[in-house]
Amino acid sequence: MLKQKLNTEKINYKSIKPVFDNSKKRVYIETYGCQMNVNDSELVLSILQDNCYSLTKNIDEADLILANTCSIRQNAEQRIWGRLDVFRLAKNKKPELKIGIIGCMAERLKEEIIERSKIVDLVVGPDAYRSLPDLLHNVEAGQKDINVLLSREETYADIIPVRMDENGVSAFVSIMRGCNNICAYCVVPYTRGAERSRNPKTILNEVQTLVDNGYKEITLLGQNVDSYFWKDETNSEKNVNFAKLLEMVALVNPLMRVRFATSHPKDIRNGVLYSMAMYENICVCIHLPVQSGSTRILELMNRKYTREHYLERIAKIREIIPDCSITTDIIAGFCTETEDDHKQTLSLMNEVGYDFAYMFKYSERPNTKAARHLKDDVPDEIKTKRLNEIIELQNHLSLESNKRDIGKIFKVLIDGVSKRSDEYLSGRTSQNKTVVFPKANFNTGDFANVRIVSCTSATLIGETVEEKKREKIIELKNIIDETIHNVENKIKSKIKQRIKKDT
Ligand code: SAH
Ligand code: SF4
Ligand code: F3S
Repeated sequence: MLKQKLNTEKINYKSIKPVFDNSKKRVYIETYGCQMNVNDSELVLSILQDNCYSLTKNIDEADLILANTCSIRQNAEQRIWGRLDVFRLAKNKKPELKIGIIGCMAERLKEEIIERSKIVDLVVGPDAYRSLPDLLHNVEAGQKDINVLLSREETYADIIPVRMDENGVSAFVSIMRGCNNICAYCVVPYTRGAERSRNPKTILNEVQTLVDNGYKEITLLGQNVDSYFWKDETNSEKNVNFAKLLEMVALVNPLMRVRFATSHPKDIRNGVLYSMAMYENICVCIHLPVQSGSTRILELMNRKYTREHYLERIAKIREIIPDCSITTDIIAGFCTETEDDHKQTLSLMNEVGYDFAYMFKYSERPNTKAARHLKDDVPDEIKTKRLNEIIELQNHLSLESNKRDIGKIFKVLIDGVSKRSDEYLSGRTSQNKTVVFPKANFNTGDFANVRIVSCTSATLIGETVEEKKREKIIELKNIIDETIHNVENKIKSKIKQRIKKDT
């Protein structure tokens, strides 16, 4: 315990970007799964950087490879087993190389990973990252080590992650960990443990650090942000719920954009919507996973809301924040799903008119409620057929949503150069839609006002209003110059005529 404390006290709060130092042992980190894992890798780097490791982006230079893993669907785990075959080859070439599996798959499979793979030296679950320096000490001495203890308190509140993003524009900030909902299909409550909220003071401190380091956008992360709750032991008026936290974060700096994920349809309150409507820097985008449009399936999924409740929440969002975009997650082919249930999902998608969706085939996960009590009885080809119908409908809805934006002007935060052309920049609207537009004299990290001129189902294409203004000014100047020139010529010719007459 004392040792753990000392390790965190040593952390250098100032250095939020990786410090590359070839004299140190080098760690290569691969990240799979959700945004939470991306942020956890940054937390792990923070702990390692303070304990004689330096990041490398070249796997061949690594002394230690860490894979931060995901278990959400079977194919996510299969991918990791595939990567382990590649790491095996690397270890054959360089026997002193150490391999660590961390994250959700480490938590789910524990020792099995060491036994099955033969090459893994270290297995660490999401709540045990503080013990990494001690575990690595043993691993370096030639042992295999594992810590998959889940915690009821750990939020890593005092550790400032070392940011691994490329552009220095957007960052994730974890506001809570774990999940208390037992959705029947989901492994997360088992891989990440019970829900706990992080002290708001430490959240604000982290946001301020990001402001100080030039970041322009943060995304607050939790499996169910709407159940964020910080209890003040001395004064219940100082308790903080998610609506309050959003306001507190928005007030840190009015130029810092604030996003959040994920909202839960059973818990999202009007207070959150009012906070969003009130602060210009809180982005108007809500990711509200529906999973299915059939109340019968939602009940089997243990989602704890009905189709009607979900649609009521959508209506409220539209009423309070009319320009808000709404995105979702959908699972095709959950246990016992009939063609009629599936049709209800399609009709709900039409009714909501989602701007974007993540869509999946149901994948049974061992030991979840569904695996224990329900039969995975929708044949794979039916799952595929339904998923394809869902994807096709969503492509259509996304295109329609984007078409409605043509002619409008959006404030876009530029996050880099367009993948298609160096002459174009790419950024996102408050609604989290991607916009590409001619570069002009803008840079990554700038805000630009962009008028949308065309679109695909995935991207808005625009032109900057400032640039348009400049073109207009040049055009007007040319007209004025030409007019002056003409007037001058006319005067000159008149003078010439007069002179001619006079002489
Ligand atoms: N906490 C979030 C999301 C967690 S996982 C929420 O409550 O919505 C992200 C998405 O993965 C889920 O929304 C769900 O659509 C999908 N998912 C989770 N378990 C799955 C499974 N067993 N099979 C297919 N998709 C799954
Ligand atoms: Fe999984 Fe449900 Fe928790 Fe989301 S809310 S992480 S889907 S159990
Ligand atoms: Fe995220 Fe995958 Fe774990 S989605 S919480 S990394 S199981």
